[in-house]
Amino acid sequence: MAEKKLPFTKEQLTEVIKQYPTPFHIYDEKAIRQNVRNLTKAFAWAPEFKEYFAVKATPNPHILKVLREEGLGADCSSLSELILAEKAGMSGEEIILTSNDTPAIEFKKARELGAIINLDDISHIDYLDKHAGLPDMISFRYNPGPLREGGNSIIGNPEESKYGVTRKQLLDAYRIMKARGVKRFGLHTMVISNELDPQYFIETANMMFDLIIEIHRTLDIKVEFVNFGGGIGIPYRPEQEAVDLTIVSQGIKKAYETKIAANGLAPLKIAMECGRMITGPYGYLVSTVLHKKEIYKNYVGLDACMANLMRPALYGAYHHITVLGKEEWPLGYIYDVTGSLCENNDKFAVNRKLPMIDIGDVLVIHDAGAHGHAMGFNYNGKLRSAELMLKPDGSVETIRRAETIEDYFATLDFSGLEK
Ligand SMILES: Cc1ncc(COP(=O)(O)O)c(C=O)c1O
Repeated sequence: MAEKKLPFTKEQLTEVIKQYPTPFHIYDEKAIRQNVRNLTKAFAWAPEFKEYFAVKATPNPHILKVLREEGLGADCSSLSELILAEKAGMSGEEIILTSNDTPAIEFKKARELGAIINLDDISHIDYLDKHAGLPDMISFRYNPGPLREGGNSIIGNPEESKYGVTRKQLLDAYRIMKARGVKRFGLHTMVISNELDPQYFIETANMMFDLIIEIHRTLDIKVEFVNFGGGIGIPYRPEQEAVDLTIVSQGIKKAYETKIAANGLAPLKIAMECGRMITGPYGYLVSTVLHKKEIYKNYVGLDACMANLMRPALYGAYHHITVLGKEEWPLGYIYDVTGSLCENNDKFAVNRKLPMIDIGDVLVIHDAGAHGHAMGFNYNGKLRSAELMLKPDGSVETIRRAETIEDYFATLDFSGLEK
């Protein structure tokens, strides 16, 4: 069984907590950089391989800056995410807009930045033209529907999912775009999320390469880049294995050689837009035990709640928990680890075997670095926590301060209410 380790000792984290009250999210910059280098190295064979980090996973400009320094671009799904990428120093085709039900303002901003626009629907062609004009390069999101099995609770079954265009629409869309003067073309899909089986990504690549051959054969269009989406899973549970990126990369390479190169369609740029596997394992939610409660079950109540990390409540997702300083203690107790929301599903863990927990213990919730703080919300008037960066030299920086009550009330005008 793989061990879930922390990048800091009890003494180091205790010092951090003296300065930054819990709860907070903390990211390990060194590990994020190393992880990105591993991904880039695995795809070194691919022409101009580019990972566009899915900003929605960890929308913080300081994280984006680190990723930009490692050569990554940004996959944005909204105006705010486009602005974050811009603030982190990204521009032009380092940015891709993959949005759905897209408002005009997002197309306008993407055009202003020179970002790649990845259209979610054939009807968006006219909408884009009307509101922002057609760019030289366009990409479409393909939804294989019944042609591809798979999906899961996060992304949905392709046939039931609202994203992308059908195979027939895709060919029509390229035909229309070519007739309207677009010169450069990309092709995108995103059919899975949090998948640990490397074969799945190889199958997706094969599906996309076949489509690129068909687009070339029927429309005489040479697709310039293919984006396989994100979806590479992470081992949330200690007994799970991380996806072997070499297997994924070599499987895709084989398909590239037999399908793309053999049909004279090289060079085809390979892109991905992973979020979870880039930052997920390197972010931790740190929280303190406020209360213990013994009724029909034993509860441990934290100062964090699902407003800080909602994956367990939303998907029943497992997040490993380390009780700081008690790593070697026997797992002799069974607890539900809860937050304080007035929602019974506000639980980080249910029936979890843990060491004996005392009030004041610090619990570190693992794998919170993607779709963690990002999915936070203010229900029950809960404030969103700070985000900290553990720098490679061991120092800690605030990369987002904690919300204050004043922030929470900032959109309300209380004047005149007491009269
Ligand atoms: C369009 C798109 N791209 C990329 C991602 C990132 O997925 P993951 O974090 O699973 O890699 C998502 C996640 O929802 C997405 O919707």
